[in-house]
Amino acid sequence: MAKSSSPNPAASAVLTVTRPLRPESGIAPARMVREVKPYQAVSSLEAILSRPDQVPLKLDWNESTVPPSPKVLEAIQAFLGNAHHLNWYPVLNSTNLIERLEKHLGLSGDQLLITNGSDDALDTICTTYLDPDDVVLVPSPTYTHFLVFAQTRGAQIQALHGPDPFASCIDLLVQTAQRVRPRLLYLVNPNNPTGVLYTREEVATLLAACPETLVIVDEAYSEFAGCSCIDLLHTYPNLVITRTFSKAYGIAGLRIGYAMAAPGVIMDLRRVFNPKSVNVLAQIGAMAALEDQSYLRWYLGEVEASKRLLQPFFATRGLPFKLTPANYFLVQFDQAPWVVKRLQEEGVYVRDRSGMNQLAGWVRFSLGTEEQTRDLLDRIDRVLEV
Ligand SMILES: Cc1ncc(COP(=O)(O)O)c(C=O)c1O
Repeated sequence: MAKSSSPNPAASAVLTVTRPLRPESGIAPARMVREVKPYQAVSSLEAILSRPDQVPLKLDWNESTVPPSPKVLEAIQAFLGNAHHLNWYPVLNSTNLIERLEKHLGLSGDQLLITNGSDDALDTICTTYLDPDDVVLVPSPTYTHFLVFAQTRGAQIQALHGPDPFASCIDLLVQTAQRVRPRLLYLVNPNNPTGVLYTREEVATLLAACPETLVIVDEAYSEFAGCSCIDLLHTYPNLVITRTFSKAYGIAGLRIGYAMAAPGVIMDLRRVFNPKSVNVLAQIGAMAALEDQSYLRWYLGEVEASKRLLQPFFATRGLPFKLTPANYFLVQFDQAPWVVKRLQEEGVYVRDRSGMNQLAGWVRFSLGTEEQTRDLLDRIDRVLEV
């Protein structure tokens, strides 16, 4: 590999590869990593960019369907317009954002860790707490990226399937946790993709029943659901909650999220967490997004209004459909892969979950504004009428 020595920064960024990079380096990955099934990240971005003629409805990753609060862009532009110091590392541990979150959440700074998206929080929890062969209990089907983080540490995943994937199974969960005594338990609340929501009381029962298990409650969608387990942090030291700015706050591209737990847990996470890893634009964007609560309320209202359009639409067309407390819904089709492909031709990008255990035929759609949802339903009709 040779690098150009041109003083032009753009030119010097070009690497000339003199021989093809070979995937097989001869160096095997770590034993734990060899066993890991890579997360199947299916991105629609390429397809969307290849169709500039279409107005896309990107409904596949449960991102916000609109740009974030204008205050986010203003704050970032103001930073970039001033003596922006992109040459400096960001504020360590995002303490500036922590101060805002303290007030917003009613927690103290030592209960918070800011991370690169909540994925990074989940990854850090796995690095901090898992030894090879530790058992991790995962009510399923659920968000599968977490499994990669746990498997990379050599953990054994025990997926727990209740009789109905769309209903909570707290008794079974508590019994199983007491029997298996897992090191970690990963509960997405409300769950992605099924929308199952455990009540605060049910989560408290679980925490009390397995004090030796660190229970992760993933609240990526809690703003939409309008409920949270945060107040349980005051009582249960075995609880850690993760949250994100990627969904309701609309800044998935900036990659920022956080973990909340007892100070002892946060201290442990900080042993391995790189305090300079959350970039400065993400910190600034998150603070601005947090500040604009009226914009957040507007977007949550739009998603709620969208939900009201769905029931009559799918009932009339005789399609099984599940609403969730989050910003997505599911529809069951006989020919899910065909429908997904046809929707894509109409510029609608959704997530086919029909290959997941217990979810045969189910396709997940993110929800956006009422106007976008009316447009979506028109496009679905065009597909169904073929
Ligand atoms: C349940 C759940 N947790 C975490 C994430 C990742 O979010 P982030 O962008 O904060 O890493 C997602 C993203 O889809 C999710 O659905």
